[in-house]
Amino acid sequence: MDRHAIARAFAAAYGTAPTLLARAPGRVNLIGEHTDYNEGFVLPVAISRAVWIAARPRADRQVRLFSLNFDQRVTFSLDTLAPDASAPWSSYIRGVAWALQAEGYRLRGFDGVVWGDVPIGAGLSSSAAIEVAAARLFVAVSDLDLDPVRLALLCQRAENEFVGVRCGIMDQFIATLGRRHHALLIDCRDLSYRPVPVQPAAAVVVADTLVRRGLVASEYNQRRAECEEAVRRLQAVLPGIRALRDVTSADLERYGTLLPAVIWRRARHVVTENERTLEGARRLEQGDLVGFGQLMFASHASLRDDYAVSCPELDAMVEAAREQPGLYGARMTGAGFGGCTVNLVAAGRVAEFCQGLMAAYARRTGQVPQVYACTVDDGATVEPWA
Ligand code: GLA
Repeated sequence: MDRHAIARAFAAAYGTAPTLLARAPGRVNLIGEHTDYNEGFVLPVAISRAVWIAARPRADRQVRLFSLNFDQRVTFSLDTLAPDASAPWSSYIRGVAWALQAEGYRLRGFDGVVWGDVPIGAGLSSSAAIEVAAARLFVAVSDLDLDPVRLALLCQRAENEFVGVRCGIMDQFIATLGRRHHALLIDCRDLSYRPVPVQPAAAVVVADTLVRRGLVASEYNQRRAECEEAVRRLQAVLPGIRALRDVTSADLERYGTLLPAVIWRRARHVVTENERTLEGARRLEQGDLVGFGQLMFASHASLRDDYAVSCPELDAMVEAAREQPGLYGARMTGAGFGGCTVNLVAAGRVAEFCQGLMAAYARRTGQVPQVYACTVDDGATVEPWA
């Protein structure tokens, strides 16, 4: 981030200097896809791309915002909060204010400049990043005391109920609680978590197909409904289950005939992905990068064949990665239908890997992707503007 550019923009917009800087990172999920809303396990990392909000508290309940990415200004009152279709980026910030107030917190306004380098719509959770940065800022300017897990849950509520996307808890959780050089193994049922070191021998490389499809939200909600249907049907023989988290591979073998074929495949993805995620965390802790990589490939195949959330471009990116030197594993990351793959690569071979991947993907598809290494970073911070 260029702090001078933000300070200049702040001065131009508001005639004064900011006093606070909030930052919240984007994320890449190493393994554990479409498991969070099934009360299962995920293993994401916070990445060195983030959303920043420079701000100055106000004495009243007005919020004035200027987005450098969209070159757009908005003003709203904390007393009349509604989504804004003409400035969708601001709806995440309004939504966070709404969720905090719905929980009884009294907020103060601020003037802010928003800037981010998390690619939008790429499956790297730019929306969770802007939500969590805004939440940290509201907490700071309003002198509130909120523990990080509660803050993440409030941001999820903003996205679910105000923005209208039925996401799970993974993205807001990792944007809030991420830890430098570590992935977090998150239990999405009780929200306990365990930091898992990402060895210096491994680099996280993100490969963006640049494909953006509008159907993500509707397909996502349909997958959620299919998982709920699997649970409803299986409860007839497994009355103790509450979510697919409670179902084992052996259960599915035994009672599979109770499920329509498509529902069975969706359930099999979730059940095996939970198993892979727990196993993956163990492998990473043991430094078994080859074993972890194999689980990534298996995760991709399951998302492609059973869960049907991949697309030809994501599949081509994984296949192109397999041909490159230094690769441990590759898979699509995030909701799917476009966006990015995550690649675990030997640290010494990153440059070679990235170049080779770009060329191999271009040969397959005729498109040039964006490929870059990410540092595994800390979760959100808010600090005085220095
Ligand atoms: C999106 C959602 C997350 C999670 C992933 C799929 O990123 O926001 O909650 O469900 O998709 O793993």
